[in-house]
Amino acid sequence: MIHKTIIEPFKIKSIEPITISTEKERIVFLKNAHYNPFKLNSDQVIIDFLTDSGTSAMSANQWAGILVGDESYAGSKSWTKMEKTVKDLTGYEYVLPTHQGRAAERILYGYLGGKGKTFISNTHFDTTRANIENSSSTALDIPIKEGLSPSEKHPFKGNIDINKLKKIIIEKKPENIGAVILTITNNTGGGQPASINNTKDINKICKKYNIPFMLDCCRIAENSYFIKKREKGFENYGYKEIANEMFSFADGAIMSAKKDGLVNMGGFIALNNSVLAEACNNQLIISEGFTTYGGLSGRDMEAIAIGLNEVFDEHYLEYRIKSTLFLGEQLHKIGIPLLYPIGGHAVYIDAKKLYSHIPVKHFPGQALVCELFKVGGIRTVEIGSVMFGEYTKSGALIPAQMELVRLAIPRRVYTQSHIEYVIEIFEDILKNKKNVPGYKIINAPPFLRHFTAEFEPI
Ligand code: F0G
Repeated sequence: MIHKTIIEPFKIKSIEPITISTEKERIVFLKNAHYNPFKLNSDQVIIDFLTDSGTSAMSANQWAGILVGDESYAGSKSWTKMEKTVKDLTGYEYVLPTHQGRAAERILYGYLGGKGKTFISNTHFDTTRANIENSSSTALDIPIKEGLSPSEKHPFKGNIDINKLKKIIIEKKPENIGAVILTITNNTGGGQPASINNTKDINKICKKYNIPFMLDCCRIAENSYFIKKREKGFENYGYKEIANEMFSFADGAIMSAKKDGLVNMGGFIALNNSVLAEACNNQLIISEGFTTYGGLSGRDMEAIAIGLNEVFDEHYLEYRIKSTLFLGEQLHKIGIPLLYPIGGHAVYIDAKKLYSHIPVKHFPGQALVCELFKVGGIRTVEIGSVMFGEYTKSGALIPAQMELVRLAIPRRVYTQSHIEYVIEIFEDILKNKKNVPGYKIINAPPFLRHFTAEFEPI
């Protein structure tokens, strides 16, 4: 018999207490954090949905791996294990360890980029864009048009717009394209998957024009789940087989292992081209460390090797995606406007629709982020004009394409009752919807401003 209740396919062996606060206390915490949840202390937070990155609970096996981690400077056994795991998964010849995803981005895109170069992606994640722009290159986002409309349902909203891709390559000239980057799942676009078919099409174009094609594969297992369930021809494939297939169409990949690596720290670059791998290795040694640890402890590499296998477990993936879906479906039921379909690692709220009385220039997403913390101690992140907005010379806001708030769900961390609590908080949020103010920025750095910007309610 098949049962409808999806249970957590694990039991709890070690616990971390949550400090429970009152709304009155949280109002003070929020004010002291200048209305930016990145500035809150974690013990002021009840449910932490800020990110699914580096927040996973490790398994007993991974913790056992931590103890046998080999901390040798060169040729660590743990590195050999991690390298083999990544090679088996990706099929690529060269693996370079990095301390996390953005270090890999800086090394690879710094080398491929430079003045006059353009990178093209479904959507560049914020650190990807920052690394590309910091090396004087340009980053262009071209998701399919359905990917830009929160309410539109499409099985692969993370796909790249192939016609636009061809057009841009011809317009900019192939030799000026640094790389095409397919982010799977497309985090900034709502955790939406890209299909094998789209990957094949990108491969053909990149081959034709001799352009490197890279996967940002930090949520590769979750993307594989969606392919198995949604793409014709893959129903009978294993999740890892689907991932293998996807990698086979690209020239390399970058991974922040803090997501589907099920670890708290780590990342890598994996490549097929020896010249490119050598150039990146030279950069790696300057800032990350020797090529057999790249900024990681031996124990980190051991845990990554184990995590990269655990994440493809069918029961884990079923639970992971279905529990995210459960939260999304319940919020939909009570009338919260969402981005559809529900993504793999997070539920995205359409804050522009929820707070239609707050103009975009007053950041409806930031308003919801503050409310969720105040009412329920829930920490989330704005993915809208605070993160991606730009300004004209005269100071007018050029808004982001969507005003979203992301509820990113750490892997294997929260239980069903935590999720039910979150749903209850949203019921309260709805009751007070009309009285919520917008926000203005009073202080912001030039890059990645959402991390440290300071706000004030209007
Ligand atoms: N690429 C994607 C798609 C990401 O989501 C992230 C990180 C990175 C690259 C950078 O990796 O953090 O290891 O340097 N995303 C986190 C998030 C921070 O909250 O979505 P990193």
